[in-house]
Amino acid sequence: MVSRAAPHVKIPEWEQVLSSGAAAMNLVIAANALGFGAAWLTEWYAYDRGVLDAFGLLPHERIAGFVHIGRPTHAPQDRPRPALADIVTRFA
Ligand SMILES: Cc1cc2nc3c(=O)[nH]c(=O)nc-3n(C[C@H](O)[C@H](O)[C@H](O)COP(=O)(O)O)c2cc1C
Repeated sequence: MVSRAAPHVKIPEWEQVLSSGAAAMNLVIAANALGFGAAWLTEWYAYDRGVLDAFGLLPHERIAGFVHIGRPTHAPQDRPRPALADIVTRFA
């Protein structure tokens, strides 16, 4: 996924950046809904100029991530999660 955020007369650059993340997340959700497994990763090569050049990215374009999609052979292991009460703040 490539973000091509740039100054625009109407759309703030920040919202363009967020949109690339939303697109990647939707791809992950869609893949899961179809029964595939999906992982959204960046790793060092998302930030390496040589890699960006190889993909033909222009100087103002950035890799939002690589969405890896495949057929799962087993359910992924979860990791320890915090108690919701420790991280959720309720208003009113
Ligand atoms: C934009 C983005 C980039 C990520 N890049 C990496 C990465 O480079 N290496 C990695 O091990 N995981 C990467 N992840 C995966 C996260 O570390 C995390 O495992 C994943 O978002 C699932 O969240 P959870 O572990 O809280 O369930 C990335 C996730 C996102 C959203």
